[in-house]
Amino acid sequence: MKWSVPLLLLLVVLMAFGIRGCATSETHSMRPPSKIDQKVNQLLSEMTLEEKIGQLNLRGTSSRTKVLPDSLKQAVREGHIGAFLNVMNSDYVKELQTIAVEESPHGIPLIFARDVIHGFKTIFPIPLGLAASWDQQVVVDASRVSAVEASAQGIRWTFAPMLDISRDARWGRIAESPGEDPYLASVLAQAYIQGFQGDSLNDPTAMAACAKHFIGYGAALGGRDYNTATIDEAQLRNVYLPPFQAALNAGAPTVMTSFNEVNGVPASGDEFLLDQVLRKEMQFDGFVVSDWNSVLEMINHGFAADQKQAAELAVNAGLDMEMTSRTYESYLMTLIEEGKVNESQIDFLVANILRVKFQLGLFERPFIPAHLDGKIYSQEHLQKAKNAAIKSSVLLKNNNQLLPLEKNTKIALIGPLAHQAREQLGTWTFDGEAEASITPLMALEEQNISLTFVETLSYSRDKDKSAFTKAVKAAQESDVIVFIGGEEAILSGEAHSRASLNLPGAQEDLISELAKTGKPIVGVIMAGRPITINTIKQHMDAILMAWHPGTMSGPAIYEMLFGLAEPGGRLPVTWPKTSGQLPLFYNHKNTGRPVNPEKFVQMDSIPVGAWQSSLGNTSHYLDVGYEPEFPFGYGLGYSRFSYGKVHIDKTVIKAGDSLRVSVELTNIGDRKSHEVVQLYIRDQTASLTRPVKELKAFQHIDLDQGSSTEVVFWLKKEDLAFVNRNMEKVTEPGLFNLWVGADSSTSNGTSFTYE
Ligand code: NOJ
Repeated sequence: MKWSVPLLLLLVVLMAFGIRGCATSETHSMRPPSKIDQKVNQLLSEMTLEEKIGQLNLRGTSSRTKVLPDSLKQAVREGHIGAFLNVMNSDYVKELQTIAVEESPHGIPLIFARDVIHGFKTIFPIPLGLAASWDQQVVVDASRVSAVEASAQGIRWTFAPMLDISRDARWGRIAESPGEDPYLASVLAQAYIQGFQGDSLNDPTAMAACAKHFIGYGAALGGRDYNTATIDEAQLRNVYLPPFQAALNAGAPTVMTSFNEVNGVPASGDEFLLDQVLRKEMQFDGFVVSDWNSVLEMINHGFAADQKQAAELAVNAGLDMEMTSRTYESYLMTLIEEGKVNESQIDFLVANILRVKFQLGLFERPFIPAHLDGKIYSQEHLQKAKNAAIKSSVLLKNNNQLLPLEKNTKIALIGPLAHQAREQLGTWTFDGEAEASITPLMALEEQNISLTFVETLSYSRDKDKSAFTKAVKAAQESDVIVFIGGEEAILSGEAHSRASLNLPGAQEDLISELAKTGKPIVGVIMAGRPITINTIKQHMDAILMAWHPGTMSGPAIYEMLFGLAEPGGRLPVTWPKTSGQLPLFYNHKNTGRPVNPEKFVQMDSIPVGAWQSSLGNTSHYLDVGYEPEFPFGYGLGYSRFSYGKVHIDKTVIKAGDSLRVSVELTNIGDRKSHEVVQLYIRDQTASLTRPVKELKAFQHIDLDQGSSTEVVFWLKKEDLAFVNRNMEKVTEPGLFNLWVGADSSTSNGTSFTYE
């Protein structure tokens, strides 16, 4: 192609302004400039380059720092810092903000951020537990309470929700995730944003949400934290991006990049992901923050040669704010002088940040309003925390309806987590206080339950068996053993992956010893992830997965044990039999040789000296087969339900049609109960293979004993769509299977055709 002079001139002009041009506060959404944009542009036109670079700087203080260094105050005074994380108390927030608005060159307020993940002071269940509620209202309540409490301390930005699809329970951060399913995660993402931000970001009790970690952090190789993610682009769009899109649609104004590389490029320097996908396609017009030092870590990844190049790559990729590392501060000026970074790009990034500061109302109201009291530990907040703990707990087993217990049952309360106020709070609870949390022992004692408490193991990894005899004696003298164990909080969360997911320490041995007494055992598990119970599950007559339930663990567990409340949770992740099965998830592909119960050859039945052959085998393990311990979506209540056949109002649908799907649900047990009715589909044949099942809808239904109701869903063309090899969202004609049931293993189905 020959370049004409006018064309070349145009190109030079465009390059001079950067590819985005000089309209600093316009975004890729091409929305008309708002009043806020006008203010942003005005401010930008007055700022020096040094001040602009300062806005891109998110400085951390350690979460344990108790003093505010003078150097930080001076940096704020000079306009070198745009935001802070982990400032310890509201006095420091006030002091720094006063310097920013009264002494810095343009009086631009700071944003104060913190990891307020599942509660600030009043702690709710860990996010994986909240996900198990499958309940938007529970998540809205948890995040609203978090925002009300934290904003009263000046925290207007939270690094939550974490929206990483997680399919490997070895990964410690599965505890913070919404689980394995893109649909459920998307529904919950919206609820988190609604709760954190309330009706308007401008409200003083609103905290700006941060959808993290963009992207693929949960796909870490082998479940080892920070590890490499390899995700093909269609998979990225079909599985990993939807929860983020849902969060943006709900108004999340910030996004955090992930530590990991995706397909060879660290997320913090990936122009394709940050500019093409996030800004242009997903129409994101807030700001992107790096994770802690993740810009700097691009050197370790082998992507940037040095700090200067790391800054160049991140800025040009569109990463607005750098968390804790200081490559922007150190090198952007030089990079601009050298022409490697355009000042217009800096303007674009600064505008994104200033816009959010305006949206938060920080310019008019930089300080915590006097009337805000946070209602920390108010009855209302504690009540919501208890409700969330109940709705999140998943009843995994309940032989002979051992639960709920009779009020006068004599209990042997045993186990390392029955009275550990701090551990029950779970990971990411910097501000939660053990003194405020009520343990199961405390709650049972308060209710005058007849019990003997023998902790036996003093922490989850404890191997000291010296108290076993005492525990066995207490068990013999009781009607029922309630064992409360699992993992201490520190065994999950960031950088806390595990290879074995068995109960740590001597817990399994303790359960085996207790079983010898012949007394029924209720196992309550508190943990940040599914725990493999393959070898001990037969000893426990009832198993209740409570995750780390938070401040109100005790009252919630008391109410569930004695039937004042029913555990409401359903698994948001597939529960493995052994960690050797991981990653394991229900919405996998079929393969050319799908599992087949009739063909399954168990390892011990292979003849010695057998001839090399595939034995008619399919995609499974010889030793543990192909089934999980419990499927995705699984959870029992205190009653039982029966499902009628699935009815559809037509067998062929076209674009524009809605398919009516209905099922008769009956409570066939002996008490009022709650069911989560789940709808799954399968696109039988497609130009890109589709999962064997995909959750598309669910409903919460309460039913009195003996009563029935018709549960109705409507499916549309869009519900059947996926991203194909050309990265287009399509619904392809063909046969679809459809199931409605109690969990992802349901076979209660029918089929229809999309034309
Ligand atoms: C690192 C974590 O990955 C991220 O989730 C968190 O928000 C930041 N540190 C800040 O604490």
